[in-house]
Amino acid sequence: MEIAGKAAIVVGGASGMAKATAEMLVREGAQVSILDLPTSKGAEVAKDLGGNFHACDVTDFEGTEAALSAACDELGALHFLCNTAGGGIAMRTLTKKGPHPLDEFRRIMDLNLVSTFNIARLAAARMSQNEPDENGERGVILNTASIAAFEGQIGQIAYTAAKGGIVAMSLTMARDLGSLGIRVMAIVPSLFATGLTKLIPDDLAASLTRDAAFPKRMGKPEEYARLAQAIFETPMLNGSTIRLDGGQRFSPK
Ligand SMILES: NC(=O)c1ccc[n+]([C@@H]2O[C@H](COP(=O)([O-])OP(=O)(O)OC[C@H]3O[C@@H](n4cnc5c(N)ncnc54)[C@H](O)[C@@H]3O)[C@@H](O)[C@H]2O)c1
Repeated sequence: MEIAGKAAIVVGGASGMAKATAEMLVREGAQVSILDLPTSKGAEVAKDLGGNFHACDVTDFEGTEAALSAACDELGALHFLCNTAGGGIAMRTLTKKGPHPLDEFRRIMDLNLVSTFNIARLAAARMSQNEPDENGERGVILNTASIAAFEGQIGQIAYTAAKGGIVAMSLTMARDLGSLGIRVMAIVPSLFATGLTKLIPDDLAASLTRDAAFPKRMGKPEEYARLAQAIFETPMLNGSTIRLDGGQRFSPK
């Protein structure tokens, strides 16, 4: 789908890979609305991009619905969703204090998997109202998982389960929405230099990316944005997951 002249929502767009994607979308001629935490730099980033900002916590599902609805009303339509807010915790299935608390597991599922689905389903409803373009397309949903979905490291059990769910949803959601001309893809990044991870010193980054084939470094947010652009613009990319990892396979630790 051509990006110029379209409307996009970028969730988590105040920072990192989503911010780079918001910048790419504006550069390519889209109108962008950023959804992010009230404490984030979302308002500032949106202002710099000539876009809008709607504060929400994606784990507040009703609040997110209201924010997304307000963003769509302001944009007048929705063609592209970049669904990127998320995060993890370090906790093993069995900890020194006992079994992994279930509420912590659920919290990470809500932050990554349930929020991703919540936003995708609401975005799909808006996209379904678009007139199809000349290729029959109405919109593109891009979700964000992690290579931990495939090679979760020790202590990543909740994050792995949540990101694995996002990977698993791609094909089913694409099939659910295919008759409407809405595509669904997921990107699975390895370690990327964003928010907190960009503070990692070079020697630690080299050790954390030692299992990569090439390049042996953290990914750059612009590399995610470049792949997001290809996904948005390429109609045959649908129902799958693309690893963005320099050939890295996480070892157990
Ligand atoms: N950075 C990495 O190494 C890496 C690797 C694999 C996957 N990921 C995934 O990529 C995604 C983006 O991460 P990033 O690395 O660009 O991080 P980042 O910290 O730079 O940006 C994340 C953004 O999401 C927002 N956010 C966090 N929790 C939120 C909530 N509850 N509600 C609304 N907004 C919220 C933050 O305010 C922030 O602006 C996440 O889903 C993360 O799990 C990151």
